[in-house]
Amino acid sequence: MAKAYAPYSKFPVGAAIRTVDGRIYSGCNIEIASYPEGWCAETTALGHYVMGGGGKIVEIAVVAERMAKVTPCGGCRQRLAEFAEPDTKLHLCDRTGVVETVRMGLMLPYGFQGNILK
Ligand code: THU
Repeated sequence: MAKAYAPYSKFPVGAAIRTVDGRIYSGCNIEIASYPEGWCAETTALGHYVMGGGGKIVEIAVVAERMAKVTPCGGCRQRLAEFAEPDTKLHLCDRTGVVETVRMGLMLPYGFQGNILK
């Protein structure tokens, strides 16, 4: 979140993905003057995760300083679901730590499954 580039919304967000081997991939939101071209903290973290070699995700955390309990947007729920499992923990955080922990399956019930495409 400290590294967020959010000059337009002034809504910095941070995300972190921890894999089973203990690696942590973090991300921030990055905004662009042409607004739709910006992207979310979760998406940055996923880019780092994929480039870092991926692996089983054990937990995900998101934080936004201006919101007590930020939840991933719809697009990020779908992106996270691509690499996580329905029972993967998602920690909704504030500056003091975890406010609530939910499972990814709760965040995206009936989400599109890409199995048939593989
Ligand atoms: N944002 C995230 O980074 N993650 C979310 O889950 C919700 C929204 C960002 C996008 C934009 O830069 C700012 O928050 C305001 O929408």
